[in-house]
Amino acid sequence: MKIAIIGSGNVGGALAQQWVKMKHTVLIGAQFPLSEKNISLATKIGEDRFAVIENAVKQCDVILIAMPPTAIFEIIEQLGDVSGKVIIDATNSIMYAPEPYQTVYHALADRTQAEIVKCFNTTGFENMLNPLYNGEKIDMFMAGDSEKAKEVAKQLALDCGFGSCIDFGKSDKVELLEKFALSWINLAIMQGNGRNMAFKVLQR
Ligand SMILES: NC(=O)c1ccc[n+]([C@@H]2O[C@H](COP(=O)([O-])OP(=O)(O)OC[C@H]3O[C@@H](n4cnc5c(N)ncnc54)[C@H](OP(=O)(O)O)[C@@H]3O)[C@@H](O)[C@H]2O)c1
Repeated sequence: MKIAIIGSGNVGGALAQQWVKMKHTVLIGAQFPLSEKNISLATKIGEDRFAVIENAVKQCDVILIAMPPTAIFEIIEQLGDVSGKVIIDATNSIMYAPEPYQTVYHALADRTQAEIVKCFNTTGFENMLNPLYNGEKIDMFMAGDSEKAKEVAKQLALDCGFGSCIDFGKSDKVELLEKFALSWINLAIMQGNGRNMAFKVLQR
């Protein structure tokens, strides 16, 4: 797949490394390609993978949004025509919502014609870099109205090494998925269990 990553921080950087390993074409749409953080990421994924946001999006069919939710309006201005493209929203609006919307997913659904899915928001970036616990693969989760976007997100989660990408439901479950992320943050950080913990669904 050809994937544009908007936001090359913890989450964008981790997923970029995983997808490059799986031979996807990754382009980082960066505000400041020469920042210290981006130079460090470039040593891992290659210098030629950085572009201005508009160009990265134009060249790709899949777009990952991994920046602060409040920057989404600025980003939407730079996306151009994204009709039919898949946008994966990995953000959490737990601290600051992109008002008047509850989440970035809702802002994108209202202001673009893209196929949107919420995914890669429910666990720490360290688990995206390494989803293996004692040889067992942890799960990823997703929600949204687009089946096409869900197929893409699922494949990209499996490509990272997650065991499965469990469907939380349609767009009415997007906020629940953000609360699920808050549950991970609560256990890992607020309750002090540490970031080396993850969710896996067991069935019988
Ligand atoms: N950290 C986690 O473990 C984790 C896990 C799941 C979901 N999330 C969610 O994922 C999102 C990103 O988290 P993160 O930890 O990756 O954040 P981060 O490390 O702070 O990275 C944020 C990225 O967004 C970029 N950015 C900020 N404002 C921008 C703008 N106006 N236009 C373009 N790019 C902009 C930053 O670029 P500059 O550095 O150049 O400013 C940076 O590359 C958040 O919504 C967070 O809630 C985080």
